Amino acid sequence: MKITIFGSGYVGLVTGACLADAGNHVLCVDIDPRKIEMLKRGEMPIHEPGLEAVAARNAEQGRLLFTTDAVEGVAHGLFQIIAVGTPPDEDGSADLRYVLAVARTIGTHMSDYKVVMTKSTVPVGTADKVRAAVDAALAERGAAIDFDTVSNPEFLKEGAAIGDFMRPDRVVVGTDSPRAADLIRSLYEPYTRNRERMIVMDIRSAELTKYAANAMLATKISFMNELANLADHFGADIEQVRVGIGSDPRIGYAFIYPGVGYGGSCFPKDVQALARSAAEVGYDADMLAAVEAVNYRQKQVLFKKIQAHFGKLDGLVIAVWGLAFKPNTDDMREAPSRVLIEALWAAGATVRAYDPVAMPETRRIYGERADLTLCRSSPHALEGADALAIVTEWREFRSPDFNDMKKALRSPVVFDGRNLYDPASMARAGFSYYAIGRGKRAS
Ligand SMILES: NC(=O)c1ccc[n+]([C@@H]2O[C@H](COP(=O)([O-])OP(=O)(O)OC[C@H]3O[C@@H](n4cnc5c(N)ncnc54)[C@H](O)[C@@H]3O)[C@@H](O)[C@H]2O)c1
Repeated sequence: MKITIFGSGYVGLVTGACLADAGNHVLCVDIDPRKIEMLKRGEMPIHEPGLEAVAARNAEQGRLLFTTDAVEGVAHGLFQIIAVGTPPDEDGSADLRYVLAVARTIGTHMSDYKVVMTKSTVPVGTADKVRAAVDAALAERGAAIDFDTVSNPEFLKEGAAIGDFMRPDRVVVGTDSPRAADLIRSLYEPYTRNRERMIVMDIRSAELTKYAANAMLATKISFMNELANLADHFGADIEQVRVGIGSDPRIGYAFIYPGVGYGGSCFPKDVQALARSAAEVGYDADMLAAVEAVNYRQKQVLFKKIQAHFGKLDGLVIAVWGLAFKPNTDDMREAPSRVLIEALWAAGATVRAYDPVAMPETRRIYGERADLTLCRSSPHALEGADALAIVTEWREFRSPDFNDMKKALRSPVVFDGRNLYDPASMARAGFSYYAIGRGKRAS
């Protein structure tokens, strides 16, 4: 099948590479010429495990092509997939400018039937706007060409995106067209061979399903963070509580880790956008507001613990392990590390940071500055630092050499935003160890 994907970011690239891998002919369109040039040279503009290999083998076979030419894109695919960004507008609502620009381009240049599929995360009712934009562009040139609009929200997780696309838990398709539903069923059939995973529903429900999923996951995180803060006050250990509640199958163990708050390009903006959509229909979404407020506060918890320990931070050097918003990605959008680092700088401290993949992105965001040293390894970041703060739970941080850590640090103090270590062992090893919600022993 011939597929065009608008937007070559995390979603567009993963979707393009994986669809090409099943034998389809995919053309990826992006307005960023730098990105397209990189991709044509076989370089990946993002870090996503496994993506480079899948993209390379399909590019080699001529099944995965890249262009900045939107007209060529419209001509190529029966499927016109919209995977452009939907960043937050000033008021928190999703900015649909890019999505609707693509819809207009499709309407302006299409010459035969198309399935216009929106993968970007968009507020309920956007499919109607996409349809209207295509219709308007067709009307402008006096053309009457049939097309279907479909909502096909994407649920991939950065860091595990290839696996998520190749073996999806579910494929949600919102459409009122049996013709489009059949075409999409064949498109996804290679990825759902062991059982049917496609859930067909009406368009508005599909659009809301994406927000519901992200809002639910964000709620789980904020709930655990709230409980972790309470555990600190009560002298209880949230890690024992986590196991205690996770063992109830109605609750489960997944996604109930306390930490330093959620970040990334999805949860913060999607919770906000859903709250904004609720406000637009006159509904007070109290729960969403609370999820967001708890998360905002949680991103400051590590800094507050550092401040409480040292008092004045002026002139101190803090080692920071982990900059990406989660492991296995270099994405730093809304990353808790940024909140911590900026608070440390504002308090007069300097930072020695290390991340296995996100340091180029850190440099791109902050540039060269005297109060930020990007270090070649996690032990290197500790050298001469007054304390260590752990922000991202990369696997390589889980079992460090604590003797070497103690020698490298000026004082043996660890602020662990991910509860990686055992508080009792840390105390025995002579560390002041502050974690999240671990009560008297480690707070
Ligand atoms: N990143 C994720 O984990 C994830 C998961 C599920 C859903 N989503 C949603 O998918 C959408 C895309 O997210 P992303 O993380 O891939 O974004 P991204 O910012 O990484 O990529 C978006 C790309 O779209 C391009 N673009 C903008 N306007 C364009 C146009 N008119 N034509 C062609 N390209 C254009 C940009 O240059 C950019 O390369 C968002 O709505 C997001 O909420 C993201």
